[in-house]
Amino acid sequence: ADALKIGIAGLGTVGSSLARILVERRESLASTCGRPIEIVAVSARERKRDRGVDLSRVAWFDDPVALAENPQIDVFVELMGGAGDPAYAAVKAALSRGVHVVTANKALLAAHGVELATIAEERGCLLNYEAAVAGGIPVIKALRESLTGNVVSRVYGIMNGTCNYILTKMEKEGLSFAECLKEAQRLGYAEADPAFDIEGNDTAHKLSILTTLAFGNRISADDIYLEGISNISIEDIRAAADLGYRIKLLGVAQRTDTGIEQRVHPTMVPIESEIAQVGGVTNAVAIESDILGELLMVGPGAGGNATASAVLGDIADIAKSRPGAQMVPVLGRPAASLAPYKRAQ
Ligand code: NDP
Ligand code: HSE
Repeated sequence: ADALKIGIAGLGTVGSSLARILVERRESLASTCGRPIEIVAVSARERKRDRGVDLSRVAWFDDPVALAENPQIDVFVELMGGAGDPAYAAVKAALSRGVHVVTANKALLAAHGVELATIAEERGCLLNYEAAVAGGIPVIKALRESLTGNVVSRVYGIMNGTCNYILTKMEKEGLSFAECLKEAQRLGYAEADPAFDIEGNDTAHKLSILTTLAFGNRISADDIYLEGISNISIEDIRAAADLGYRIKLLGVAQRTDTGIEQRVHPTMVPIESEIAQVGGVTNAVAIESDILGELLMVGPGAGGNATASAVLGDIADIAKSRPGAQMVPVLGRPAASLAPYKRAQ
C-alpha cells in the first residue's frame, strides 16, 4: 500500500523522540497500520543540531508554514509549541488544504481549537491531539469515543507532569522548588517557558480542552479560576502531611446548578486517596459519567517518549483510516507467534 507521508515541524523533546521511533519501528508500524509511515520533510530552527536520528535524506524546511503547504505531505505533525505563529499559521495552512494535522500543542488548541476544528470539518480532514492533554494517557479518545452517550458530570485530575514532579520531589527529597524545576526542565517535562507549568496555565489549557469535549462548551481557558504552585514551600508540604494530606495541583471542571465550574489550584487531598498516590511526572485524570460511573486513568504525563507514543497513535489512526485496514494487516502479518499456554505447576 502507499506510504503515509508525514512532515514534522519541531524536532525537540517530543519531535525527536517521534522521529526516532518512526525510523526504528518502520517495519512493525507498516505491518500494524497496513502501510508504511514515512517522514518526508522536517522543520526546526537549528538545522545542524543532532536530533539522535538520521534525517539526512529527509527534506529540510526552515519555514514550518512552507512545510505545511508542501504538496508531498499527507499529514502535518506540529510539535513546535506556542499559541501563535508559526504553529497557528502552519496548522491552519495544512488544514485549509485538507491535510490531516496531529499536534501536541495545548496552548494552540486552547486559543484557536474551535476555529481549527471547524476548518478540519469543512475540509474533511482530521485534527488529532491526543498528546495535548495528560501526555501518554488516552483521555481524548476516552471522551471523544469510548464515553459517547454518557452524560459527564465531572472531570478532574493531575494534568501537569512538571508540577507533580516538583511537588513529589520536594516532599520526598526535601529539595527546593527551584532545584526541582531545574531537574524537570532537564528531563524535558517543562514547557519552553516553565511559567506556563508552575503558574497553572498549562493545566488550564488542558482543562479547557477537556471541558469542551466533556460538556460541549466552547474552549474558554480565560474563564478558569487559576492558581499555580510557585508559592508552595517545603513547609506547606510538611504542614499538609502533618494533617494527613498531600498537595496536588488539580484541574477540575464540573456541572453545577449555575453552569460548568472550572478551576485550577493547589489542593490538599487525603493522603490515602488514589490521587495522592500519583507521584512524579505521572498524571491522573478522573471522569465521572452517568452510564459508566467513575473512570480513573493514570500514566506518564510528560516526556519525549510518553508524548511521542500518543502522537504516534494519532498518526497510526490516520494511516489505518481506510476501509478494511483496521484488523486485516494485524491478522495478515502477526508481529509474534503465539506460545502454547502452560499451566503453572
Ligand atoms: P521543544 O522546545 O523541546 O521543541 C520545540 C521544537 O520546535 C524545536 O525543535 C525547535 O527547533 C522547534 N521550533 C520552535 N520554533 C520554531 C520555528 N519558529 N520554526 C521552526 N521550528 C521551531 O518542545 P517539546 O518537544 O517539549 O514540545 C513540543 C510541543 O509538544 C509543545 O506544544 C508542548 O507543549 C507539547 N508537549 C510537550 C510535552 C513534553 O513532555 N515535552 C508533553 C505534551 C505536549 P530547535 O530544536 O532547532 O530549537
Ligand atoms: N509541560 C507539560 C507538563 C508537558 O509538564 O505536563 C506535558 O503536557
